Amino acid sequence: MTVDIDYVELLTQAKKASEFSYCPYSNFPVGACVLYESKKIYTGSNVENVSYGLTLCAERNAISTAIAQGEKTKIKAIAIYSPKQVDCLPCGACRQWISEFAADDNTKIILEDENKKPYVLSLKELFPYGFKFN
Ligand code: THU
Repeated sequence: MTVDIDYVELLTQAKKASEFSYCPYSNFPVGACVLYESKKIYTGSNVENVSYGLTLCAERNAISTAIAQGEKTKIKAIAIYSPKQVDCLPCGACRQWISEFAADDNTKIILEDENKKPYVLSLKELFPYGFKFN
C-alpha cells in the first residue's frame, strides 16, 4: 500500500515526544513517531524506572500506544530522535518490535543526521535476520 511519508514531519513529532521523556537516570531523552498504513501517527517517549531494566524505550511506547488506541494496520515508517545523539538508532528489542508490526522489509526507519536532515534506512538494512515463529 502506498502512503506518502513526510520524513521531516515525522522527525518533528519525534522531537516533540522526546520533550516528554522521563529519563532521570540516563538523562538521555528519546522520542519516536510511528506512521501506519491508516495514515495515522502515534508518538512515544522513553520512560525509565529506578529498577533500570524496567525502562521502556520510546519506540515501543509509541507502538504500544497505537495498539492501545485500536490501530490495526501496519507500520510504514518510524522516526526516532534524541537531542543527545545524532542518528539515534533503535535498540535490538525495538527492532524486533518494529518488525512485528511492519508493513514489509521496506518499512522506513528515519533518523536525523549531523546536518539535521532526515537519514532514512529500511527495516531490511537494520534488522535482516529477525526471529520468526512458524
Ligand atoms: N532508548 C530508547 O528509548 N530507544 C532505544 O532504541 C534505545 C534506548 C532509551 C532507553 C533509556 O531510557 C535511554 O534511551 C538510555 O539508554
